[in-house]
Amino acid sequence: MDTRMQAFLLHLVLASFVFLSSIRDGYAGITSSYVRPEFPSVDIPLNHEAFSVPKGYNAPQQVHITQGDYDGKAVIISWVTPDEAGSSHVQFGTSENNFQASAEGTVSNYTLGKYKSGYIHHCLVDGLEHNTKYYYRIGTGDSSREFWFKTPPKVELDAPYKFGIIGDLGQTFNSLSTLEHYIESEAHTVLYVGDLSYADNYEYTDVGLRWDTWGRFVERSTAYQPWIWSAGNHEIEHFPYMGEVVPFKSYLQRHTTPYLASKSSSPLWYAIRRASAHIIVLSSYSPFVKYTPQFEWLGEELKRVDRKKTPWLIVLMHVPLYNSNEANYMEGESMRVVFESWFIKYKVDVIFAGHVHAYERSYRFSNIDYNITSGNRYPVPDKSAPVYITVGDGGNQEGLCSRFMDPQPEYSAFREASYGHSTLEIINRTHAVYHWNRNDDGKKVPADSFVLHNQYWKPFLADM
Ligand SMILES: *[C@@H]1O[C@H](CO)[C@@H](O)[C@H](O)[C@H]1NC(C)=O
Ligand SMILES: *[C@@H]1O[C@H](CO)[C@@H](O)[C@H](O)[C@H]1NC(C)=O
Ligand SMILES: *[C@@H]1O[C@H](CO)[C@@H](O)[C@H](O)[C@H]1NC(C)=O
Ligand SMILES: [Fe+2]
Repeated sequence: MDTRMQAFLLHLVLASFVFLSSIRDGYAGITSSYVRPEFPSVDIPLNHEAFSVPKGYNAPQQVHITQGDYDGKAVIISWVTPDEAGSSHVQFGTSENNFQASAEGTVSNYTLGKYKSGYIHHCLVDGLEHNTKYYYRIGTGDSSREFWFKTPPKVELDAPYKFGIIGDLGQTFNSLSTLEHYIESEAHTVLYVGDLSYADNYEYTDVGLRWDTWGRFVERSTAYQPWIWSAGNHEIEHFPYMGEVVPFKSYLQRHTTPYLASKSSSPLWYAIRRASAHIIVLSSYSPFVKYTPQFEWLGEELKRVDRKKTPWLIVLMHVPLYNSNEANYMEGESMRVVFESWFIKYKVDVIFAGHVHAYERSYRFSNIDYNITSGNRYPVPDKSAPVYITVGDGGNQEGLCSRFMDPQPEYSAFREASYGHSTLEIINRTHAVYHWNRNDDGKKVPADSFVLHNQYWKPFLADM
């Protein structure tokens, strides 16, 4: 155990002492009394440097990468060229200025009403080694640009890895603060829980333009490490007034996912394995009841999870199943009814969601005994249940959801209406350290943390 871990555990022991001594009968949650500084939730102006366009004719912009296969030996590199299609070529290699290998991608463009997109490139770079730093170059001549990324360790029982979790980011100054704090956290991969650009709050050609600014805004992180995408309601983009009624059009054109590698039939739901984690991405806004493709796929994917290879089972979705904020209250209930029993049967460790613009963490509770005739109406403590964490607090233009249900329900462990992001640092098969970091007057402040004990390997430990 390193000294950082020791210090953390000591801190936790002290914190739980204070915490336990305040509990009367069993569960008691905390509603943080922290009062956030009021900060306007307006989008960053178009001409701000946060959206700066790279120099050079047709220079690649909005560069982002995501995992390209099931096990982390491939990435998909995506970017936009504004002036002409140009090249979809990626050069890459393991040392700077020495690009021994190359791959060829595809290019496409789309319209949304009168908006015409730039040329969107997606290039699969595969056959990579694990645990290796790669440099890559895209674009041509003076306009070419170079970036790098690191591949994850081999999929393995005790492979350590640090994930970040961000949701509902948008493109305000609060979003910028979240993004900068996330980068300071030095995590390796973002688990993104939906609602990306909030471009759909604009009209006509501004929708597309705000997707472009968002792509340039997040590039400082997305060009260097994979963001694992899931879709939220702001990706649906139902615009009958401009004849655009195909859901997820901009989102799907701009973001690819390795869905075929997990035998999914849609980029909106899929799974990947990364280091010691098996990550399942669900779509809150695609059919999920019995017999639908998403339902059938999840049933099969859960059977493929091998906790002896990937001890950590993490699920991402946009709409939380447990939420005690007045905003979006019970919107996740329909999915809870369908999937909760599986999450318990398969011992999911943690479920991350967004949507509600606040932070909340649950105790291990379930409500699987409830049905229309049982009379068991309330969630009950359940050691086999996942922890539910809502991180819809990225900082978009809609502001915070600051009204929580009162009294705080028993399942709710900690809640606070502030902006921020989370990290989950996997130490080994049994231990992971979780943090939620609030943005506080421009500083990154750890505000909620705990050691997550693995659900599958927990029986081999003293009970938590
Ligand atoms: C995992 O790490 C924790 C904290 O460092 C340690 O207490 C525990 O014994 C480790 N578990 C295994 C299986 O190595
Ligand atoms: C894509 O770009 C080509 C070449 O500039 C153009 O002719 C075509 O209309 C564009 N398609 C869409 C859907 O915008
Ligand atoms: C409903 O709950 C009752 C009591 O827990 C149980 O006996 C019954 O089988 C449940 N019905 C369904 C359809 O799950
Ligand atoms: Fe949402």
